[in-house]
Amino acid sequence: MKAMCINRLGDLDGLRVEERPDPRPGPGQVRVRVRAAALNYRDLMIIKGVYSRNLALPLVPLSDGAGEVVEVGAGVTRFAVGARVAGIFMQTWLDGALTEAKSKSALGGAIDGVLAEQIVLNEDGLVAVPDHLTFEEASTLPCAAVTAWNGLIEAGLRPGETVLTLGTGGVSLFALQIARMTGARVIATSSSDEKLERAKQLGASDGINYKTTPEWDKKVRELTGGVGVDHVVEVGGAGTLARSLKAVRMGGHISLIGVLAGGAECNPTPVLMKAVRLQGVFVGSRAMFEAMNHAITVHGLHPVIDRVFPFEEARAAYQHLESGAHFGKVVLRL
Ligand SMILES: NC(=O)c1ccc[n+]([C@@H]2O[C@H](COP(=O)([O-])OP(=O)(O)OC[C@H]3O[C@@H](n4cnc5c(N)ncnc54)[C@H](OP(=O)(O)O)[C@@H]3O)[C@@H](O)[C@H]2O)c1
Repeated sequence: MKAMCINRLGDLDGLRVEERPDPRPGPGQVRVRVRAAALNYRDLMIIKGVYSRNLALPLVPLSDGAGEVVEVGAGVTRFAVGARVAGIFMQTWLDGALTEAKSKSALGGAIDGVLAEQIVLNEDGLVAVPDHLTFEEASTLPCAAVTAWNGLIEAGLRPGETVLTLGTGGVSLFALQIARMTGARVIATSSSDEKLERAKQLGASDGINYKTTPEWDKKVRELTGGVGVDHVVEVGGAGTLARSLKAVRMGGHISLIGVLAGGAECNPTPVLMKAVRLQGVFVGSRAMFEAMNHAITVHGLHPVIDRVFPFEEARAAYQHLESGAHFGKVVLRL
């Protein structure tokens, strides 16, 4: 079977296809024929060597994939052959609080990921995917969608509240869709007016172009009657946090998720002066993933896929993500 491998860090030339023997499941494990895998910004950081320099190479990249169970090992009870499944981001974070040990079990980083025709995982490290989703759609859920779910629903988002999303990448569009599913209002930002129109079609009430309106926090306050939003899905990091702190209401909530706009320094004083709840988010547990899948099924939600590339064109898929031209998820078909 074929597996895509990162052989060295630094640029996309480190990515090569390797022939490997078909993996066999041991006790408690299942073998999955991967049908689709999805890229996250993290995967770009990993291959460039800016995520971690302590990765064991060669590494099979990507945390997010979906496929069907083709073989089960002794004692497996959660899945049978034919089940449609996706891997969970941190293989040992099943429920409860995150611990350091669990944080070191992430697919496509600490351990081999899913960009291979076949993978073997412990049955505990998989969830069943919603029936109405294609494998391409299901492959987008493990990192971006669970992160958005954790950053909003686990943070107590309620109907009628207002959510601010930054940009139109994977996490932000899932946040938009999940917030709308919950009956919340969404204000979206983007560098592109065309993407803002598409965000409105997904249910955003307002769009702000952060390039042509660099003081977007002022516009957010204006749109909320001078009050500010209840929740910010903060994917920009140091470069956007100061404005997010201005855009959030007194006592509001910010999920600190990403590093897309790093570089600047941010004064933490507004966090206390506005009594803001600032919560770091690191994807989420299997229990969160399963709760999210239930909601996705009930609401018939479909992830937004920008483009699907064939497995052999993984480099082109990474380049497309890097370009920032995408709206939603970039997927590979295996
Ligand atoms: N903590 C976690 O568990 C976790 C999980 C998933 C992702 N993340 C992080 O969250 C971030 C987003 O990840 P992703 O996979 O969703 O990325 P992505 O799909 O690659 O999103 C990229 C998009 O972000 C927007 N963007 C870029 N710079 C921006 C800026 N300065 N202000 C506002 N928007 C900006 C752009 O949207 P427009 O083209 O519309 O402007 C761009 O197309 C990354 O930093 C990633 O590492 C963290």
